[in-house]
Amino acid sequence: MTLSHSEIKEMLSLGEIEAEGLFARATAVREQVCGKFIYLRGLVEYSNSCRKNCFYCGIRREMPDIDRYTLSDDEVLDAARFAMLHGYGSVVLQAGESTSRSYTDRITSLIRRIREITPASVGLTDEQTRGWDTSLGVTLSLGEQSPETLREWFAAGASRYLLRIEASDPGLYASIHPRGALHSYDRRRKALEDLRDAGFAVGTGVMIGLPGQTMDHLAADLLFMQREQIDMCGMGPYIDCAGTPMAGCELPSGKDRIYLTLKMIAVLRLLMPDINIAAATALETLDPQGRIKALAAGANVVMPNITPGAAARGYRLYDNKPLPGVLDTENLGFCRGKAGDPLHYKLRRS
Ligand code: 5AD
Ligand code: SF4
Repeated sequence: MTLSHSEIKEMLSLGEIEAEGLFARATAVREQVCGKFIYLRGLVEYSNSCRKNCFYCGIRREMPDIDRYTLSDDEVLDAARFAMLHGYGSVVLQAGESTSRSYTDRITSLIRRIREITPASVGLTDEQTRGWDTSLGVTLSLGEQSPETLREWFAAGASRYLLRIEASDPGLYASIHPRGALHSYDRRRKALEDLRDAGFAVGTGVMIGLPGQTMDHLAADLLFMQREQIDMCGMGPYIDCAGTPMAGCELPSGKDRIYLTLKMIAVLRLLMPDINIAAATALETLDPQGRIKALAAGANVVMPNITPGAAARGYRLYDNKPLPGVLDTENLGFCRGKAGDPLHYKLRRS
């Protein structure tokens, strides 16, 4: 549907009780267009090494005293087999940004090997997997890469890519990143175009509750996503991280950031009914029920962390990042064994 900048701002300013109506509307649209099911993606945090220095991030290059790790091929493949075995349908490989040739080659080979995993290869029977896809969907979240690398990864079998714009306003973007070519807003915009040109279903998103962020910024973020016709979105609250240049900034309360995120999800669902919207992990840092609430406000994807040994590793983007396994999925209807491409992507490619 179409909403004006000022209509969106009004919706984002709704009080807690009025917002319930917005969440119900968004859920009705989600169920009507995407179906009742929630999709699961197994999140694999491949490496916490990063060449960039974003002011907000706990694994930035200049962060002192953190143990940098990269998973072995076997660890990644074990996680992917776990995802297949549990009917997750697809995996997301996420890491800090690295662009060396040896790194991009390793990712290419991992994508191919993940795509070779079948229900039978993890010991599932035809009976158990009737109606399932025969291979896992592969989503990448590996930062800005060259058009050639993106084409290579797409050809290897990855079909979706997540690259948050973080803040669609160039001024706000500049205020949370160092100056220079490595952190350029224009470069990030170009990277999003390159993803689309390479053939990927494109996901983006923003952080909510950033210092200096206004309702105007947030309304403009949603209109940006609609204008760019994105296929997927992941957005979550900004969370303070000790030791980063932005640590200690004054922020809206945790509760306000949660509600704002839920309202952003709900309005986006109304603007773009057929995209996939993820319930971000960061929501859970501020509220144990945060992700569940997002699923009741229009989101249709959850990404449980399946990184082997995740608890012991330092993929710590922000303080109090939740450990795997805290999602209470008991009462939710999950779609098993389906990669679940965004409907928006299927329609735009057909
Ligand atoms: N709070 C919330 N989200 C963060 N990210 C990085 N640092 C933080 C933080 N302090 C998010 C960024 C990035 C994603 C992988 O994690 O949006 O794109
Ligand atoms: Fe690196 Fe991403 Fe963190 Fe920026 S947000 S420092 S690119 S991991």
